Amino acid sequence: TRTRVVIIGAGPSGLLLGQILTRAGIDNVILENRAPDYVLARVRAGLLEQGTTDLLDATGVGERMRREGLVHHGLALTFNGEKHRIDLSGTTGGRTVMIYGQTEVTRDLMDARKASGATTVYEAEAVAPHDFDSAHPRVTYVKDGVTHEIDCDFIAGCDGYHGVSRASVPERSIQTFERVYPFGWLGILAEVPPVDHELVYANSPRGFALCTMRSNARSRYYVQCPLTDRVEDWSDQRFWDEVRLRVDPETAAAITTGPSFEKSIAPLRSFVAEPLRFGRMFLVGDAAHIVPPTGAKGLNLAVSDVRYLSQGLIEHYHEKSDAALEAYSGRALARIWKAVRFSWWMTTMLHRFPDQTPFDQKIQETDLAYLVSSEAAMTSMAENYVGLPS
Ligand code: FAD
Ligand code: DHB
Repeated sequence: TRTRVVIIGAGPSGLLLGQILTRAGIDNVILENRAPDYVLARVRAGLLEQGTTDLLDATGVGERMRREGLVHHGLALTFNGEKHRIDLSGTTGGRTVMIYGQTEVTRDLMDARKASGATTVYEAEAVAPHDFDSAHPRVTYVKDGVTHEIDCDFIAGCDGYHGVSRASVPERSIQTFERVYPFGWLGILAEVPPVDHELVYANSPRGFALCTMRSNARSRYYVQCPLTDRVEDWSDQRFWDEVRLRVDPETAAAITTGPSFEKSIAPLRSFVAEPLRFGRMFLVGDAAHIVPPTGAKGLNLAVSDVRYLSQGLIEHYHEKSDAALEAYSGRALARIWKAVRFSWWMTTMLHRFPDQTPFDQKIQETDLAYLVSSEAAMTSMAENYVGLPS
């Protein structure tokens, strides 16, 4: 068989790219190695930049998000027992962010894809891109024991950090940049109201904590933990006690606790692959880059990659111009590196590092004190947090 674009991976990047292309009349096939329920069960990001929600609206998948999502105009930082608000909207000309879970974004995109009639092959095994250096790329996969081959014009590698797309590029053609952080995040979901109407990011001598939410009735909390910890080491009681020890006393007293129904540990890393184009194959989202979750950028970066790549593909087919496709890697990487820098900075400012010296400690305290006392510093943080222009 033949299609114009084969998309590898049905996470948020692959599904969104597919939806934009289908709406532009560009036929595409998505190949995903997992089952739909598995993809939907992965609890990940929760915070969307305004540019992300705008693109979801423009793609016709924003309706439920507009109804159920929570718009935030600010956030709080706590350290030294005190809570400070950062006004995101007031410092950025009225921009906002939205709480709407990645699982919900994925569900909306899956529903839209089903309604569009476009092909998604779930549980596709041994997906492999071929000949992307030539004018005739192909992708092969095995489904129910039968090998299939799809001829295409382009391959979009939307298959996440462990995917096959980046791994198929010869080592000499790709450069990677990486920092691995010496801690992880333990996260829980609980059916309890959030402690505050906005997010609370905490720096404390016991390590980082974050109070976030999925709705007015469902909360998500994270604490920094050693990479050697296992989920079984953390009873709900121990988790709630630890969160309360890491936030300011007023916030601690206001937390509603309850049984968790999801608990997982994620390692933190920064990673970028360059370039993002290899002949007729493009890398998109987590396949190309990973940021630590502290800045809430992972999903938003995936979406801005999709914006650039979809513009390139639409211009290629509708205007017979390859200018935007040629520009994809450079444009996307410029924005990626700014988010990588911001996520690294947030991570460095808010976590306890095992090898932190007294000097490092003083710099961290001063970074925080400067941030909450300077309009310029708050504006700088806010414009990055709400999302830099594309
Ligand atoms: P993915 O969501 O990884 O999707 C890739 C898809 O490709 C998957 O469905 C996968 O099954 C499929 N795939 C993989 N290999 C193959 C193959 N060989 N063949 C076919 N299909 C394949 N970001 C935040 O902003 N905040 C957070 O709190 C946050 N928490 C996170 C927690 C965890 C544990 C992880 C892993 C990520 C987290 N992120 C967070 C990052 C955010 O979830 C990602 O940036 C986002 O999912 C990227 O979307 P994607 O579509 O590019 O990749
Ligand atoms: C969430 C996760 C983040 O890493 C973040 O910075 C903000 C929100 C969340 O899961 O809601």
